[in-house]
Amino acid sequence: MTNPASSTAPAPTLEDAIAALDALPAPHGLPAWTPAAEVPLDRASGEALRSRGLEYRTIDARDDAAYERFVQAISRGFLEDRAEHLVGWRSTLLQLDGRLVGVFDPAAPHAETPVATIGTWGTGLVLDPGCIVPMWAISVVTVSSTHRRRGIARAMLEGELRAAAGAGYAVAGLTVSEATIYGRYGFGPSVGARQFTIDNRRAGWVGPRPVEEGRGRIDPIEREEAMRALASLHAETVAERPGEVTGWPGLWRDAAGLHPEEEEKGFRAVQYTDDEGRVRGVVVYSIKEADGKAALRIQSLLAASTDAYAALWRFALTHDLIGTVTANLRSLDEPVRWMLEDQRALTSTEHDHHWVRILDVAAALGARRYRAAGSVVLEVEDPLAITGGRFLLTVDDEGTGSVQQLSADAAPDAAVVQVGISELSSLLHGEARWGTLAAAGRVMADATATAWLDVAFAPAAPLQLSIGY
Ligand SMILES: CC(C)(COP(=O)(O)OP(=O)(O)OC[C@H]1O[C@@H](n2cnc3c(N)ncnc32)[C@H](O)[C@@H]1OP(=O)(O)O)[C@@H](O)C(=O)NCCC(=O)NCCS
Repeated sequence: MTNPASSTAPAPTLEDAIAALDALPAPHGLPAWTPAAEVPLDRASGEALRSRGLEYRTIDARDDAAYERFVQAISRGFLEDRAEHLVGWRSTLLQLDGRLVGVFDPAAPHAETPVATIGTWGTGLVLDPGCIVPMWAISVVTVSSTHRRRGIARAMLEGELRAAAGAGYAVAGLTVSEATIYGRYGFGPSVGARQFTIDNRRAGWVGPRPVEEGRGRIDPIEREEAMRALASLHAETVAERPGEVTGWPGLWRDAAGLHPEEEEKGFRAVQYTDDEGRVRGVVVYSIKEADGKAALRIQSLLAASTDAYAALWRFALTHDLIGTVTANLRSLDEPVRWMLEDQRALTSTEHDHHWVRILDVAAALGARRYRAAGSVVLEVEDPLAITGGRFLLTVDDEGTGSVQQLSADAAPDAAVVQVGISELSSLLHGEARWGTLAAAGRVMADATATAWLDVAFAPAAPLQLSIGY
């Protein structure tokens, strides 16, 4: 007999499935942070905009009309339809207690539509294995073309940075479409990315072969299953993957190719299961015809073990009828290169990807671990006066760093290094090297200090940020 209650219950929607991802255990070591929605707007930016006849306000994402106007302004700013933000982004933003801020022009004919937008939320940034700091994630920075070059972007960005610093966030971050805008606010390119194109016929394979050797298996799965597996593998492993952000449930819908905008791309998904029956990796991909050859485009590939990583790449690179494999947002130091018999089968283009801005030097540098004991005095120049000053960084024999802000008359027995906040933000993860920035004239330090800093700040594992936001 059917249960009348269950027969009338609506089928779970994709949104329900995404919301259910929230119940996964949080990554270990996740710090607490004040939700962005509770952080007050910066007064100085409010004053600066008011003096130009403009208003600076938060937008309630639950208000349909106000939210729609905000998205309309984003579309205008980016000169393209961003209607996709109307769907998934809103529920993500509400789930994250994020905040939307708009600048309004009361004299405009449509005064309720913002002339500038910015959206922010809190997440965790993995600096080193097991070391996560609260990060103020920034997105949808736009200014209407009718209101450009009046200092609106500057007021909004400075406002976000001061607000986030005041709320105790250690860093702010953004993945940029325009790379030349953010250095002036103290952001620096931190973790880069590569777009890969691999010629399958040429590549060959010298990596592990776990499937052939009976240590695991590969099976096709539905995209909804891939979404859950990606979310759960990410939660399990992210704390050990420097460069990544701890993320939010809405990410996995896009990673699994379930975004409504992507529906026509025909995504498929495959999982790797180890010999104990545990899912250890997932790849989501699509296949397209290009120049008479089929190309396999990897949408996301996440593996929790070397075997899973090797098996999923090998699956893509030995796929029948495929000439080329492409993948974006791969690490600058991606292990798959060392699995190819012919490394020249892989061509890549490199670009800046994650830009980070330190908001609290002591909290950011004190949170990560280092590879060599020693000490240095950092004289940090911050043109926005959010976190500059003199700091003594001391690393003990276990690699634990401690940072002490120095008074003007303190003269500890340690080499002095002069560095701007943008450069220090680039150096924080260890992808950019102190010696390189010194050679570029962007850091003032002697050779002994830079040699130690290069070893001390070296990343513990290849850095990667596998998402854009
Ligand atoms: C980029 C954008 C946000 C700038 O807004 P804006 O209000 O005109 O900027 P401001 O007047 O506050 O100018 C801030 C500074 O950035 C500089 N700047 C502005 N737009 C720039 C651009 N596209 N490239 C490089 N620098 C830029 C200005 O010269 C100014 O420099 P200064 O303060 O050192 O003198 C705006 O042009 C825009 O919405 N562009 C389209 C969307 C976009 O590209 N968003 C960024 C996504 S990463």
